[in-house]
Amino acid sequence: MKEYKVGVIGATGMVGQRFVTLLANHPWFKLAAVAASGRSAGKTYGDAVSKRWAMPEPIPDAAKGLVVLDADADAEKLAAQVDFCFCAVDMRKEEIKALEERYAKLECPIVSNNSANRRTPDVPMVVPELNAEHLAVIEAQRKRLGTRRGFIAVKSNCSLQSYVPALHPLRKYGLERVLVCTYQAISGAGKTFERWPEMVDNCIPYIGGEEEKSEQEPLKLWGRVENGRIVEAETPSITAQCFRVACLDGHMAAVFMKFADGKKPSIEQILSDWASFRGPAQELQLPSAPKQFLHYFQEPDRPQTRLDRNLEGGMAISLGRLRPDTQYDYKFAGLSHNTLRGAAGGGVLLAELLCAKGYMD
Ligand SMILES: NC(=O)c1ccc[n+]([C@@H]2O[C@H](COP(=O)([O-])OP(=O)(O)OC[C@H]3O[C@@H](n4cnc5c(N)ncnc54)[C@H](OP(=O)(O)O)[C@@H]3O)[C@@H](O)[C@H]2O)c1
Repeated sequence: MKEYKVGVIGATGMVGQRFVTLLANHPWFKLAAVAASGRSAGKTYGDAVSKRWAMPEPIPDAAKGLVVLDADADAEKLAAQVDFCFCAVDMRKEEIKALEERYAKLECPIVSNNSANRRTPDVPMVVPELNAEHLAVIEAQRKRLGTRRGFIAVKSNCSLQSYVPALHPLRKYGLERVLVCTYQAISGAGKTFERWPEMVDNCIPYIGGEEEKSEQEPLKLWGRVENGRIVEAETPSITAQCFRVACLDGHMAAVFMKFADGKKPSIEQILSDWASFRGPAQELQLPSAPKQFLHYFQEPDRPQTRLDRNLEGGMAISLGRLRPDTQYDYKFAGLSHNTLRGAAGGGVLLAELLCAKGYMD
């Protein structure tokens, strides 16, 4: 694989820092430029993040000396320096849409962590193990934008990764209804305990906009490509509650599922489907793909956030406690790392898939 020069827009934030860390030792990608708001622009990356570095690893040497560009004012300059950019910015939705389209029109593909373009029908929202075939809409998107190589591809909301991958191989049994409660870490809000002391010993039963995303985004992931657009699936019906809990990293989900009459699988069938599930990320041996995507723990008190969030570099999904339910057919627990699989790691894996499929050439 050739080496790709990569930029990170929003590089100073929680997800941006993860990108910078993951890119430090990536076999295909070389971090060539970083950008953020005008508040950080002009400083070296090391200076811009020194007081708010939130990663367990030190700031990578290769990033420290890069001068932070202004994502808006320096867009042409940044686009000219790289083969594509990751984008994770905290801005208003319309501003993010405009920013991402601007880079795409500068022929700089964008792999986005932001939600602004997730429901755009010709923007693929891809989890590489689940719906790689959705990349086919990029051709129609390029036509709409009038670009030759520029486009936007997005990854889905972070908390989805703790339950949608487990449900995916079970859709063949006529999955009809899903109830999910997520318990989400504070890094999902771009925060640490130092910067959000109110969260110590606390639980907040509200995360703005999260329940709608948890209920609707899986239907796009399970949608089909039709005339250059993703047509969203109509089932299963999903209801969600999302709570913020006092964990640093890792989103946990309590999941209940109901299948069509006469199609309910056995527990053994479900466990076998989870154990054998592989997607294009594994088949193509993408560098960031976990070897075993869905791990099932037999122990009754697993998965646990602190013990299991880093499984396979934070890219695997941990499952446990599959058992019958009195109102639904079954219930189980799921866990994924929100800033790795759920954000920067998922973005890097999507970019690897795009490279392997020739979209970045
Ligand atoms: N945290 C997660 O687990 C997670 C998971 C999935 C998706 N996401 C999404 O990823 C995005 C970033 O989240 P985060 O948690 O990393 O946020 P964050 O820590 O608050 O970082 C925000 C970043 O956006 C930059 N920014 C703000 N205003 C800007 C502007 N006008 N122009 C250019 N850059 C600007 C900031 O730059 P300055 O430092 O210069 O202000 C910073 O780099 C959000 O859309 C979020 O919804 C987050």
